[in-house]
Amino acid sequence: MFDGIIVSMSPGLRKHVEGMLKLLDEAAAAYSLTPHFKGRLRTAVILHDIAKESLLQKDDAPFAPIMHAKRSAEIAEKRFNICDRGIIDAIRFHPTGRRKMTLPEIFLYIIDFAEYSRDFPEASRCRELFLGKHLITALLFAASVKLHYVIQKKEHVHPDTLQMQEFYEEPH
Ligand SMILES: [Fe+2]
Ligand SMILES: [Fe+2]
Repeated sequence: MFDGIIVSMSPGLRKHVEGMLKLLDEAAAAYSLTPHFKGRLRTAVILHDIAKESLLQKDDAPFAPIMHAKRSAEIAEKRFNICDRGIIDAIRFHPTGRRKMTLPEIFLYIIDFAEYSRDFPEASRCRELFLGKHLITALLFAASVKLHYVIQKKEHVHPDTLQMQEFYEEPH
């Protein structure tokens, strides 16, 4: 399903999504995901950045880079009739994470960061952790790298990201 959408994407987004789908295939084998769960994640991967295909409005500051996630979730729901709340939320929270993430949210967050077209060493380190089934370590590693990048660029740190780190760093 949704193969036509991949074909119609801009080259940059298509490469990103294809890199994510490759990592999803490997994760499905590593974690013995059911076909149903993998299919839900596949939908999330294909639609997670769909709003980037249309221009973002200027009134989204100061969190402009993450507004595409909210928009993509709305597009998935309204235009593609996705009524799976878990998948809509995975799309909505994919740039920031949050406290008490669901499994689809955690998988999408990591796969978005660590997919194969990302050529920096942290992405391949995150893939190793993820495919080695160190799920929460991979999540926290991706979050710390992203946070470092945001701080370096002097952008606003989203409170959901801080809450996510705090939540998962505590022993449960
Ligand atoms: Fe995104
Ligand atoms: Fe993405």
